[in-house]
Amino acid sequence: MLKKIPFFNNKQSKASIHNTERYTEDNTPDHVAIIMDGNGRWAKKRGMPRVAGHKEGVSSVVKIVKAAVKCKVKVLTLYTFSTENWKRPKPEIEFILRLPKGFLHMYLPDLISNNVRIETIGDMENLPATTREAIQYAIDHTQDNDGLQLNFAINYGSRHEILNAMKEMLTDINDAGLSLDDVDEQRFSRYLYTAGIPDPDLLIRTGGEKRLSNFLLWQSAYTEFWFTDVLWPDFSEKEFLYALEEFRQRRRRYGGI
Ligand code: IPE
Ligand code: IPE
Ligand code: MG
Repeated sequence: MLKKIPFFNNKQSKASIHNTERYTEDNTPDHVAIIMDGNGRWAKKRGMPRVAGHKEGVSSVVKIVKAAVKCKVKVLTLYTFSTENWKRPKPEIEFILRLPKGFLHMYLPDLISNNVRIETIGDMENLPATTREAIQYAIDHTQDNDGLQLNFAINYGSRHEILNAMKEMLTDINDAGLSLDDVDEQRFSRYLYTAGIPDPDLLIRTGGEKRLSNFLLWQSAYTEFWFTDVLWPDFSEKEFLYALEEFRQRRRRYGGI
């Protein structure tokens, strides 16, 4: 069982309120994507089974969602389970895929009262039915919210997404009279899971690895990357705010000068 930690409480220190206010002023990234890595190593360091790291990682999700709401980030995409993670031992997979249900069971009321809209990217079909149902319930009950869009990337793989998009677009070219001349980056993007969502401005990866691991390959063409050795269960609002501060200082040129 997950132990509920406060989502929003009134006991924030003055310092953290102050810090957060600074970041809402300007140049806050609209879309932050996070590769939440390092759960297994966090557990191993403590002599615990890997799944203990995944369980602890949920506390970080709660903290970072809360921080993103406060900072007025518009979209937060969390890499929860990749198409490659099916290679892991079955009990670990089952444990990870049960977590969304537990998280939503505990925090959906808080998310709703904070105007958060839940969405997913990835192939939901192969998920356990109970996980799918819990997520669909959360999507249905938050669809009218217009605060933070919280995207869970579950059973997500960028190459699969791009191939699928290409197949669907080719079908429209063959069957629906879509002309090749109409195909451009914007139109192609509409076939991706992220249709309608702005590309990530900032991508954070915890856990020390410096790679994308098949995450948002198309969408991160001009994303700013921020890496930290901190393992996901140890990742806190402080590091999140620090990443946002670094982002504010980057100069994005998009190929210009
Ligand atoms: C990230 O932590 C969570 C998932 C991939 C689901 P890991 O489980 O990859 O943790 P490490 O990288 O082995 O420490
Ligand atoms: C990326 O982490 C996937 C998620 C965080 C869900 P991995 O731990 O699976 O990535 P690799 O295997 O180290 O590249
Ligand atoms: Mg990992």
